[in-house]
Amino acid sequence: MTGSVLAVDQGTSGTKALVICPERGVIGSGFAEVRPRHLPGGRVEADPEELYDSVVEAGRRALAGAGEPVTALGLANQGETVLAWDPDTGRPLTDALVWQDRRAESVCAELSQYGEELRHLTGLPLDPYFAAPKMAWIRRHLTREGRVTTSDTWLVHRLTGVCVTDAATASRTQLLDLDRAAWSPRALEVYGLTGERLPDVVDNAAHVGTTTAFGPELPLTGLAVDQQAALLAQRVTEPGAAKCTYGTGAFLLAHTGDIPRRGTSGLVSCVAWRLGGVTNHCLDGQVYTAASAVRWLTDLGVIAGAADLDTVGGTVPDSGGVTFVPALAGLAAPWWRGDVRGSLTGLGLDTGPGHLVRALCEGLAAQVVALADAAAADLGGPLTVLRVDGGLTRSALLMQTQADLLQRPVEVSALPDATALGVGALARLGADPGLTVAEALPDGEPAAVYEPRISADEAAERLARFRAAVTALLEGSPA
Ligand code: G3P
Repeated sequence: MTGSVLAVDQGTSGTKALVICPERGVIGSGFAEVRPRHLPGGRVEADPEELYDSVVEAGRRALAGAGEPVTALGLANQGETVLAWDPDTGRPLTDALVWQDRRAESVCAELSQYGEELRHLTGLPLDPYFAAPKMAWIRRHLTREGRVTTSDTWLVHRLTGVCVTDAATASRTQLLDLDRAAWSPRALEVYGLTGERLPDVVDNAAHVGTTTAFGPELPLTGLAVDQQAALLAQRVTEPGAAKCTYGTGAFLLAHTGDIPRRGTSGLVSCVAWRLGGVTNHCLDGQVYTAASAVRWLTDLGVIAGAADLDTVGGTVPDSGGVTFVPALAGLAAPWWRGDVRGSLTGLGLDTGPGHLVRALCEGLAAQVVALADAAAADLGGPLTVLRVDGGLTRSALLMQTQADLLQRPVEVSALPDATALGVGALARLGADPGLTVAEALPDGEPAAVYEPRISADEAAERLARFRAAVTALLEGSPA
């Protein structure tokens, strides 16, 4: 029987920590901001020490708020963010290259002949989004010293002294053999990373080590990559349903069962979680810019912030013929064209802020529909439901637009911090092997359900307009 757990979600722009009590739910929370640097050439870097400090700070704040001890720790990570570090001192040797960083395009271009082989082997397409191209770039351009790993491994080493990664995070590197859930010597060879001392791949719920970073000694018993943690918290544990988290980017994941299913429609195939040695899989699609597209509109002065989407968008009935493909950092699944940039068409002298806001909401929602369609094609039938979480789900305009274009109900999670809750559940499972997954998960009732309010014909017409804009972008900038 576990007591309360400390669940820490180390994300791109901040770290959120919750103290979760099995009986009373969330009894303490803390947040610490992280400021990644957006540099020319699509480079996005974070200071590793700032990542670590934010974990400790957010965790301590949550514990202070709860005012009572916890029995285990869970840690969720960003996924594809990498750095080199010294295993003797734990000191970072480089900045962290954040998952959004595009500098490893050169590595991917050089390895293009291996793209199909890598996709089959690892389930992932060749794209600088994933960890391996960034690891290879660091080895070629920054340092050959120390270890080069995803940020979770470094954080866990700092916290506990052990060198591990969980199976789901490992499956986001493009170095994991998806069928064996073990490092692939062939993928390592292709990337020139043979001989690297890689972390041990562990279950998502397991006793990994102990830490005193938050006070008295605490066992670390849950590890996860953030999107998979949210998938678990949203109770998407059987094939058919999907979740989408609207954070910095938007990420749609669909559970596919216990055997890997390669996406044939442009989605990524990866590990959802491995529990008790049994691996569950999922399909994953990404919109690189969601909240960061809203921030872009904010920086331009069109809105004062995300809270303004509904008020400004509500001043007009539609987008006034404006179409926005908000590919401000390129297009990920199902197009995989990181090189293209966004487009804004149909502007007139009468275009106002409300039209731009509605066009942004439609552009984001249409990209999520493309991901849902791809998941449905791979699963052999439409998704039964889309469960959503993340900051942007507070926009009724965006959520209604999503349901309208998807032509399916959209269930907004009552769990504002699904990722932390998911890794909290894993921490409980790791601390108490007698617990079932269903028992460890938080209550699944949605806070709101948006039903489609427009006809299928109108949705199809709006989606066709969006697709035409994407096609124009793809054809206008040859790969
Ligand atoms: O793949 C990267 C993604 O999981 C990062 O999510 O919440 O840190 O923006 P977040």
